[in-house]
Amino acid sequence: MAADPRVQDILDRALADIAGARSTSALEQVRVRVLGRSGELTALLRGLGKVPAADRPRVGQEANEVKGRLEEALAVRQDALKTEEHRQTLAARHLDLTLPGRTSPVGAMHPIIRVQDEIISIFEGLGFSVAEGPEVESDYYNFAALNFPDDHPARDMQDTFHVSADTVLRTHTSPVQIRAMKAESPPVRIICPGKVFRHDITDATHSPMFHQVEGLAVDRHITMADLKGTLDLFAREMFGPRSRVRFRPSFFPFTEPSAEVDVLCFKCGGDGCRFCKQSGWIEILGSGMVHPNVLRNVGYDPEDVTGWAFGMGVERVAILKYEIDDIRLFFENDMRFLGQFASSAQGLP
Ligand code: DAH
Repeated sequence: MAADPRVQDILDRALADIAGARSTSALEQVRVRVLGRSGELTALLRGLGKVPAADRPRVGQEANEVKGRLEEALAVRQDALKTEEHRQTLAARHLDLTLPGRTSPVGAMHPIIRVQDEIISIFEGLGFSVAEGPEVESDYYNFAALNFPDDHPARDMQDTFHVSADTVLRTHTSPVQIRAMKAESPPVRIICPGKVFRHDITDATHSPMFHQVEGLAVDRHITMADLKGTLDLFAREMFGPRSRVRFRPSFFPFTEPSAEVDVLCFKCGGDGCRFCKQSGWIEILGSGMVHPNVLRNVGYDPEDVTGWAFGMGVERVAILKYEIDDIRLFFENDMRFLGQFASSAQGLP
């Protein structure tokens, strides 16, 4: 205990402030206030000359003792605060090795493109090559050259998106047949994948944009038996060896005779269910023998060559293959759906 009240006061306040300092920088402020160049105790020591001579040695000794005590107290508190601050820094930077790593999302091929590529490769294996055409198409290629009469209902605004009076968003991939046949002479064996557009109300089985793959074979002596054999083989390659196709008579302006082709329903295996509208079969394509007028329109001689063609809905095939019951899933871009088609996903080829 110092006898001098000023020295005692400096000591008491400084010790309380040192104990109360919560950080090394707060502690440093206490040191500067008391022991710095113009600190309280420094000033007192400098002013010793003004203290009466009789008291001077005692006050000077007390002040120096207090200085020593405070320096020690500061050093001890400094150590404790540094240790605590170091501990906090480490805790903030703490690396938790048990946390899962951050992975970048890996893209997957879209199921429609995947199925389209599979269809293409089956036909490539049979000697067909890929041909493509524009999505914005003239009325001539989309309709007229395909033997659609001027007043055919398919030209109606309800089905067709018109860009101008004689330009449309193609409603099918059949115009590529015309372009390909005009560009080459027979024999022709092509497969034409692509987007098509129709003014349909979206529901579980309709979308205003969908995909088709067109097929065309023209040569001497081509018959409908070749068409049936080819599509039968296609169904077995695509849907498995137990799959079957069924031909139903139909009508298209650009084929004669025409047929619609169904495959066995994936849901009920042919017994009939809600999905196949109780018929046991699901339609996947339209087909037929190329109409002589179409052959004439492209400059071929129908007396010399014959051909068959088909137009297949890719979404229909994908729906059957992956047992999906709503076409909208393909276009909503929900990653939980699309991610299942990553090549590493189970059960996919
Ligand atoms: N273009 C037809 C459609 O979109 C499908 C089609 C039927 C294409 C018969 C053909 C064909 O090539 O021969 O409905």
